Amino acid sequence: MDKIKKIGVLTSGGDAPGMNAAIRAITDKAIEQGLDVVAVLGGYSGLINDKVVPMTMDTVNGIIKRGGTCIYSDRCPEFATEEGMQKAIATCKKHKIDAIVAIGGDGTFRGATDLSLHGIPTVGVAGTIDNDITATDYTVGFDTAMNTVLDALDNFMDTCESHARCNVVEVMGRDCGDIAVRTAIASGAIAVAIPEVPFDEAEALDRIKRARAAGKRGMIVVVSEGVFHTDENGNKIPYGEYFTEICQRDIMETRFARLAHFVRGGNPTLRDRLTASRMGVRAVELLLEGKSDLIVIEEDGKYVPMDIVFALTTDRMYKKKLKDGDLDKYGDEDIAAMKAICDKRTAEIKELYKIANDIAL
Ligand code: F6P
Repeated sequence: MDKIKKIGVLTSGGDAPGMNAAIRAITDKAIEQGLDVVAVLGGYSGLINDKVVPMTMDTVNGIIKRGGTCIYSDRCPEFATEEGMQKAIATCKKHKIDAIVAIGGDGTFRGATDLSLHGIPTVGVAGTIDNDITATDYTVGFDTAMNTVLDALDNFMDTCESHARCNVVEVMGRDCGDIAVRTAIASGAIAVAIPEVPFDEAEALDRIKRARAAGKRGMIVVVSEGVFHTDENGNKIPYGEYFTEICQRDIMETRFARLAHFVRGGNPTLRDRLTASRMGVRAVELLLEGKSDLIVIEEDGKYVPMDIVFALTTDRMYKKKLKDGDLDKYGDEDIAAMKAICDKRTAEIKELYKIANDIAL
């Protein structure tokens, strides 16, 4: 690979607090190394539509503490088409972009692999509130999102105590229950429903009943947005709404709240600023070492590179979405390593779920 002179940075998919800290770290580190830096505005759609602006130390000054992404984000189906890719490559050529750092989640990394295949070296930084990239212990934005949820749950609990009510609160996370289970523990919730573990509805209702009989006034039930109830007509109803109805009908006055995108905003916590900075710096270092097709992951407190396709395949293995042929190019050792990552994840979420239930009284 020729020596890199100019890198592009982009954020794609759902924004996450700490993305700006990553942008700043990438820009400052690259400039310190004598590189030029540009930002691609609006993720991959910016690459298709030639939205490229120069980045300087001034541009990133002060953004470390801001939520959202100052270079904007988008979900871009067109990028998955050959036509979209050709436009993206043309933009890279026009602006002499030698390599890209892509900040985002699994969709972002799929795009990054395609870019690399088309000759633009790309390294990914894991940024999503969901913490749902199996291969990394942590994704930028997760801590801030959890703290935002926790603040909300504490507030709900205040008013629940006053009125002797239950509040069912739905939180984001897509198919991943990490935000839900951790904030449930931290808020002292009476029950939590997540996609990874079957929810014992009768037990949860009974627990609420028992707690009420014992004099507990305020109750919080945290439900991940990835959990659904299927009604007699086959319609999928968000589980939080369904549980609210039966709790209200059978046990006590119950309210429902969906925190939704509120949780994606806000100034990033120290954890997110620090992780974003470490991952961002590492991404630039990897490109300067002539590497590509990698994401920076957190593994037992270290920031290390992992092959993007290996990470995405591990992710599909964990989510039971492996496609035909996915494992063909991997030997026994690699497959065992993927399984070990999946097992670690499964064990962790089950342990957290058990704790949430053991102390939910
Ligand atoms: O991936 C982040 C996330 O906020 C998920 O938790 C949620 O399911 C999804 O994005 C919402 O997507 P959108 O911003 O497109 O509504």
